[in-house]
Amino acid sequence: MAKGQVVVVANQKGGVGKSTTVYALMDEFAETLGLKILVIDYDPQGTLTSLLDIDQAVLAECRKEGSICNMFERKEVNIIEYSDKIDFIPSDDALNDSFYSSKPGKELMLQKYVDKVRGDYDLIFIDTKPDLQAPIISAILAADIIVNTIATGGIEEDATIKFYNKLDEIVDLYNKKILKVFVIPTMLDTSRDAKDALYSIKVNLPDLYSKRYAALVNVPLEILKPIPRRAVFKNATGVKVSIRKYIEEFDTGKKDVLLDLEQIAKKIWGEVKQNG
Ligand SMILES: Nc1ncnc2c1ncn2[C@@H]1O[C@H](COP(=O)(O)OP(=O)(O)OP(=O)(O)O)[C@@H](O)[C@H]1O
Ligand SMILES: [Mg+2]
Repeated sequence: MAKGQVVVVANQKGGVGKSTTVYALMDEFAETLGLKILVIDYDPQGTLTSLLDIDQAVLAECRKEGSICNMFERKEVNIIEYSDKIDFIPSDDALNDSFYSSKPGKELMLQKYVDKVRGDYDLIFIDTKPDLQAPIISAILAADIIVNTIATGGIEEDATIKFYNKLDEIVDLYNKKILKVFVIPTMLDTSRDAKDALYSIKVNLPDLYSKRYAALVNVPLEILKPIPRRAVFKNATGVKVSIRKYIEEFDTGKKDVLLDLEQIAKKIWGEVKQNG
């Protein structure tokens, strides 16, 4: 039986391309690599859920009895069959109540849930809320692999340090095993700021990571190929068409973007396969 690894896309900073990365890579995993995946929108903002453009009646039915919040009650959660290869758990506004409730053990509920269903999938892919408390703690506890997206609009060292402080603390406190941390620089363009930000990610971050974080000493960090800042991401998400489909059908000159995404997906899958 497959034992799908859990890949969590996280950064406590908002607007750094988490949801766009999940949206772009889910097709690479499912369509290009042919994997059976479960995608979870673990962010009450529901950005990913709205990008997937699921019929409102289907969403309402799914949330009525089997909302994602049921994880916190250890009850059945409804899964939407988004495509042959992609199952999807949509977000719910009420997730915030679950995150910030005083219920003991709430941080462990996502982990309990994914442990129950991981046998059905090659990979479980989770989009998260920009936050440093229960939403991110619970997502880290559920993760085997972390994908930390960092925007290259400017140097983000303070935000990055906060994220890795939290990761280090959780790994230490809970004795949590994380197999690997991948960093994806996002929205890369040709500006000076972007070049400086990329330098900071490629050079300063590995240095800081290896020196500062005792609990992460056995967790390798790998910086992946950057995702470029391109209008296709906004255009495709604007019309709610997958990035791959948009490029293949309407913007065939941007196939280089697909090659980048495919390469990133293959790297992450390579890690999952090795440990699954
Ligand atoms: N590579 C890219 N090129 C151009 N625009 C991008 C790219 N990646 C993301 N964007 C745009 O940047 C904005 C923020 O992206 P996204 O919603 O993915 O960030 P996020 O980290 O999920 O935000 P939040 O923390 O609020 O959930 C969106 O408008 C998105 O379309
Ligand atoms: Mg998001």
